[in-house]
Amino acid sequence: MLQKFDERNLDLIVNINGELIHRDKAGISPFDSAVQGGDAVWEGLRLYDGRIFKLYEHLDRLERSARALSFAEIPLREKIIEEIKRTVEANKMRDGVHIRLTLTRGVKTPVYAKTGLTLITSKIRRPPPEVLDARIHHANLLNSILAKIEANNADADDALMLDTHGFVAETNATHVFIVRNSDKSRARGDLATSRVVACPEGITRATVIEICAAEKIRCVETDLSVVDIYRANEMFCTGTMGELAAVTKIDNRVIGDGKVGAITKRLSDLYAQRTASQGIQVV
Ligand SMILES: Cc1ncc(COP(=O)(O)O)c(C=O)c1O
Repeated sequence: MLQKFDERNLDLIVNINGELIHRDKAGISPFDSAVQGGDAVWEGLRLYDGRIFKLYEHLDRLERSARALSFAEIPLREKIIEEIKRTVEANKMRDGVHIRLTLTRGVKTPVYAKTGLTLITSKIRRPPPEVLDARIHHANLLNSILAKIEANNADADDALMLDTHGFVAETNATHVFIVRNSDKSRARGDLATSRVVACPEGITRATVIEICAAEKIRCVETDLSVVDIYRANEMFCTGTMGELAAVTKIDNRVIGDGKVGAITKRLSDLYAQRTASQGIQVV
């Protein structure tokens, strides 16, 4: 049932980082991690006659959740309680009040793509479509963020993620291709990429498949295990931001000869030809 708007909330004062502000003027940065990827933890609190029931239990859970996500800064609980008091006072509220407390990782800084990537295989699995269908290109990125934290802690660039059957889904942010049966001298080989089961439909992925068809390079969409990855001649990731980025190491194993492969290079060049000449003119 759709909730009805409560007129008493018309002039709500909200608290953003200690600033009390009318609900119509309140805003957070579009670069905030909560906006970018749902990268936030929260509690729903309830005020009864001036008292918040189980407040410390809620703050404990908030802190535990933030620690699990490796948030760099978790505000002191005295500070949180002080801000809750200020907000409730500013709203002249006392009873029958729902309070929504949200803590985000903060404003995200863009990371620039590189090639010659080092990956680890994450312990975090990608959910199957019956849990959360990756065909919805949604903004709830926590599953991938947990894998990325694992990669950061292992000094790797990104994490390879498997689905719940143990097959390759993609990395935390890009699709994965491998090259098998390669003939370096002719920059030819067979390509394989995972099926769209636990990864979104990729536009760069589709472009690579399109290039392969045009160049008569065999490319299959299939179930790949980490063993397929370990014994590949080449490996690369695809995404709009990083285009085609070679992977040279995974789980401390060198892929192929540990350099950007000839087929990866060839496909990157063919991709660059397309980006240099195609697209919808906007400026
Ligand atoms: C989870 C995930 N994987 C892969 C990609 C790469 O897809 P595309 O080639 O369409 O940029 C994206 C892009 O947003 C993504 O969110």
